[in-house]
Amino acid sequence: MDHFEYRHGSLHAEGVPVEEIAAMVKTPFYCYSTATITRHFNLFGEALSGVDHLVCYAMKAASNQAILKTLADLGAGMDVVSAGEYSRAVAAGVPAGRIVFSGVGKTREEMRVALEGRIRQFNLESEPEMHALNEVALGLGVRAPVAIRVNPDVDAETHSKIATGRKRDKFGIPISRARDVYREAASLPGIDVVGIDVHIGSQLTDLAPYRFAYKKVAELAATLRSDGHDIRRLDLGGGLGIPYGRSNDLPPLPIEYGRLVKETVGHLDCEIEIEPGRLVVGNAGILVSSVIYVKSGEDREFLILDAAMNDLIRPAMYDAYHDIVPVRESPSEEALARYDIAGPVCESSDMFARDRKIARVAQGDLLAFRSAGAYGAVMASEYNTRPLVPEVLVKGDQFAIIRERPAIDEMIKRDTIPVWL
Ligand code: LLP
Repeated sequence: MDHFEYRHGSLHAEGVPVEEIAAMVKTPFYCYSTATITRHFNLFGEALSGVDHLVCYAMKAASNQAILKTLADLGAGMDVVSAGEYSRAVAAGVPAGRIVFSGVGKTREEMRVALEGRIRQFNLESEPEMHALNEVALGLGVRAPVAIRVNPDVDAETHSKIATGRKRDKFGIPISRARDVYREAASLPGIDVVGIDVHIGSQLTDLAPYRFAYKKVAELAATLRSDGHDIRRLDLGGGLGIPYGRSNDLPPLPIEYGRLVKETVGHLDCEIEIEPGRLVVGNAGILVSSVIYVKSGEDREFLILDAAMNDLIRPAMYDAYHDIVPVRESPSEEALARYDIAGPVCESSDMFARDRKIARVAQGDLLAFRSAGAYGAVMASEYNTRPLVPEVLVKGDQFAIIRERPAIDEMIKRDTIPVWL
């Protein structure tokens, strides 16, 4: 459920007509709904009620500080993967004690920044990383709280580019070697082992891979405890999928996921951390674009939009499906047409949808890409010297620009010409 709907034939974000925002901000732009973000975040709290837990929003999904602050005010922790994300979360008011640091290649400098801030936890992914963290912590005279990410060798049955829990993936340590690695961790004076971490992939549409992975984690927790480790937290990662609008993708609900968590690891009496990203913001955001031209090909019609692959890369990168709807509601079924919908960037991968049936539209009409809140604006680039797409946040009947579109002059000024030229 989200808070984008037609009222009097015009798409609204909560109480605000999208057309009104477009008139002020100009297209393309991302638009988020506070009510939807709030609702989806709270679903996890309900799903894990009765369990000591912290929801660490995976801010890589959408990292504008206005979104982070909205979530921090609801009690969210954050999952960060770089010093940049860490600093952004802190700047948005997230206490370091609620931040976990994931990622397969944290540098010593990143470790230092997070340790100085008194971060809650590092999720370590390898032995060399563990030794580096030990040294950095000792240099600062502190102990680093650590969970070690294990790779359970499970196929999350999602797009191969976003599966992370198989042997061939670069993530975590093989679960078969976990006992040895934990033994070594316990011997390092700068490392304080607090738990186990696992994350098997993104856009999961079935609970079975979770069940398999979490059962393995539960067994490991019991074994590590019998080895004398104080396993008091389990970080179970993120990855729960969202419906992208096609009838065949109906992922499990957070409440079902919560039940599974309780069933598989509830008996361990650990504090549970989860790291959802997509489910919190995915359906809370749309990308609004205008039709620049309707162009006739030999055997098809093309819509050329003012949004492009640099603004929303998911279709080009993962063959992802996004619903594309007119901002002015289509009056009838007969008014539907089929289009190949593309952006203006000079490569054939700048194609959002082929042979898509949508309302017949004309030059200048507004279209909205649904479910674009996660991995949308954050993955945007300036390819083709196109300005980074702006972001807008709606709350009730108010809206605010939460990131301006940069002026082309500003972008150009960032280059420097060497003295010899
Ligand atoms: N925790 C870790 C360690 C992760 O690597 C990720 C996502 C998450 C949590 C959050 O997963 P989520 O709940 O959002 O599925 N750009 C891709 C998705 C990449 C996901 C990367 N890791 C896409 O657009 O589909």
